Amino acid sequence: MSKKILITGGAGFIGSHVVRTFVKKYPNYQIVNLDALTYAGNLENIQDIAASDNYRFIKGDIKDVAFINKLFEEEKFDAVIHLAAESHVDRSISHPNEFIETNVMGTANLMNGFRHSCNGDFTDKLFYHISTDEVYGSLGKTGLFTEETSYDPQSPYAASKAASDHLVRSYGNTYKMPFIISNCSNNYGANQFPEKLIPLFINNIKSKKSLPVYGDGKYTRDWLYVEDHAKAIDLIFHKGIPGETYNIGGFNEWTNIDLIKLLCAQMDIKLNQAPGTSEKLITYVKDRAGHDRRYAIDATKLNRELGWKPTVTFEEGLSKTIDWYLENEKWLSNVTSGAYQTYYKKMYG
Ligand code: NAD
Ligand code: DAU
Repeated sequence: MSKKILITGGAGFIGSHVVRTFVKKYPNYQIVNLDALTYAGNLENIQDIAASDNYRFIKGDIKDVAFINKLFEEEKFDAVIHLAAESHVDRSISHPNEFIETNVMGTANLMNGFRHSCNGDFTDKLFYHISTDEVYGSLGKTGLFTEETSYDPQSPYAASKAASDHLVRSYGNTYKMPFIISNCSNNYGANQFPEKLIPLFINNIKSKKSLPVYGDGKYTRDWLYVEDHAKAIDLIFHKGIPGETYNIGGFNEWTNIDLIKLLCAQMDIKLNQAPGTSEKLITYVKDRAGHDRRYAIDATKLNRELGWKPTVTFEEGLSKTIDWYLENEKWLSNVTSGAYQTYYKKMYG
């Protein structure tokens, strides 16, 4: 069946993998990628599918109400898969308002545009909101986040995502707008902007710069290969039940320091360096303000109800990710020139 789908944030890290999956797998769909091309958005991420017949890119800002309303009125989308967001916790600590404006107001603008363009008839329509496990707050040594865990966001980023999740559910309840929300754990893979842990550390090892480990390094995250997230989004979009929430995770917990040591060991092999060379770059630095100690997702519901499970092991995914960054020097140097240098100096001195 043909569908016209708006994917927001499709020039970013996860969005580019989602756009590629949909464009390649569903030639009958019309995929419209809306992205403001902020520092994190990059058309190089999707240049391989840019000329596809079933794909269009529109540069635009989800904060721009008039633009969004006109877009929905003209295009009459059947569905929205909403990934556009400010997504980096450290930036949310220094500039919280940008997160509130994009993640909260931007999401409301999209839902208002969608609702009005549907004109009360939501038959076969869907607003699919992509969210994060950070809305649940921080775990102690044990336990997992389930879909029933209460929201307890701790950073401005997490709070802005939690607020947008609440808004989406409220539109479902109040206006009967069909929606799905999925909350995913930490993603890694190709095309991730080198401000997040894994690509930042790959780039720093390459350039022989120090590896800034926050606090004691014993913070824990649950890592998922980005293509497995894109597959989960495809499955949930097609088979998920409107009104439901699905947690997505890798069943793959690592303390930061253990992960960094594994990354260092793999980098030494790939760069033909003596074992231990990269580890010497590890430097413990001041902790992130309000740093969440541990995240871990229970993705049992998604496995039980829709049959999803991660397909890529961490060692394999990490190796593929490192190879991608080593093979894509130009991508890395393009995104790390200019404004990146200013950001880096401000963050790490
Ligand atoms: P990203 O920062 O790499 O990409 C975000 C994209 O959104 C960029 O292309 C950017 O240009 C675009 N964008 C930002 N503000 C915009 C605006 N006002 N209007 C239009 N476009 C705008 O982020 P990501 O890591 O790919 O995350 C995508 C989504 O997935 C986010 O909603 C994030 O909260 C969620 N998420 C991310 C992770 C993760 O580990 N990265 C995990 C779970 C959920
Ligand atoms: O859990 C899902 C979330 O994962 C997503 O919603 C966010 O968009 C995404 O950015 C990510 O958030 P984190 O804060 O967990 O990711 P980040 O890569 O920034 O940090 C991972 C861990 O590494 C965290 O404990 C902080 C630590 N860290 C990070 C950086 C950038 C360091 O020790 N040093 C660093 O320089």
